[in-house]
Amino acid sequence: MGINDELGFDARVAIVTGAGQGMGREHAKMLASRGARVVANDINAERAAETVAEITVDGGVAVADSNDIVTAAADIVQTALDAFGQLHIVVNNAGINAFGRFWEMDSETWWRVFDVSVKGVVEVSRAAMPHLIASGSGRLINVSSNALMGVPLDSAYAAAKSAIWGLGNTLAAEAKEVGVQVSTVLPVAWTPMTEDAFRDPVVQDAMRAHVPASAVSAFVAWLAHQDTTVYGEAFEVAGVAAARTAFSVMPRMKTAEPTPESWAASAGDLMQDGGLEPLRNASQSFRGQMVYLAPELDTVLPADAADVSVR
Ligand SMILES: NC(=O)c1ccc[n+]([C@@H]2O[C@H](COP(=O)([O-])OP(=O)(O)OC[C@H]3O[C@@H](n4cnc5c(N)ncnc54)[C@H](O)[C@@H]3O)[C@@H](O)[C@H]2O)c1
Repeated sequence: MGINDELGFDARVAIVTGAGQGMGREHAKMLASRGARVVANDINAERAAETVAEITVDGGVAVADSNDIVTAAADIVQTALDAFGQLHIVVNNAGINAFGRFWEMDSETWWRVFDVSVKGVVEVSRAAMPHLIASGSGRLINVSSNALMGVPLDSAYAAAKSAIWGLGNTLAAEAKEVGVQVSTVLPVAWTPMTEDAFRDPVVQDAMRAHVPASAVSAFVAWLAHQDTTVYGEAFEVAGVAAARTAFSVMPRMKTAEPTPESWAASAGDLMQDGGLEPLRNASQSFRGQMVYLAPELDTVLPADAADVSVR
């Protein structure tokens, strides 16, 4: 495969949620421009229709869908089946954000941010899964964010995006058994959402130049392609730059006794920086801790348990 060989989707059917603007619109256009038939979902019906108009004027195939991913996920999947009879690809892109101190934000706003990200992804994925399995080349791509590490004044969004990360890693391992490849992207792009968040004109100019939304779409389209064998990872993506992400631990340390006083005396050691050990999954974390304490388990606990990596 060379850089000039186009990745064609051969009329495969894709749902892109939140496709009315920003990255979602670009994902829909990118997939359609390479021959996928696309359901452009957005709760904003007018903007979903605009996306479809942009696709069809370029000779692509798409239908608009304005169902809410939180409350009407099955209807979105039905739109794909009614229009195209099958479903191969889902890009769970829709998301919203709201800023405020955790203890000051009203409960309704907090849960709406969380629900659009988490419940929306769960419900759309649940409705889509039987059809992705049946397609024989199912691809599920969930959109998380580097905000999963925690961002002050953004607790609902951070909580939601870390939930998507854990969900995606779990689904990747489960869905591998049924031939569906699940991946997570943590994008950075210049969109209406970031226009709100970054007000410095120098940052805005750099984002416009280096991280257009369409660049993330190129990465998403590659992951979504039927010949792609890379999956089961969470990737940081911005413009032409990307990285696999990993959960890591610093060197393990032991305290003298299992008492609060002993931990108080060990705090300095615990808080020291050190070399990182990347952990690929929860089994590796468990194994690392247990073998550290009980070396006889080194030959008992499997080293590659639940590893969904394709490398
Ligand atoms: N822009 C970034 O740099 C960035 C960084 C990290 C993660 N993300 C994530 O990437 C995704 C896309 O971001 P964006 O910047 O393009 O956002 P955006 O705000 O420009 O677009 C999101 C779209 O989702 C739609 N939407 C909202 N709620 C919906 C619902 N319930 N059902 C259907 N559609 C709904 C909105 O109408 C909107 O058109 C989001 O999940 C976002 O959290 C963005």
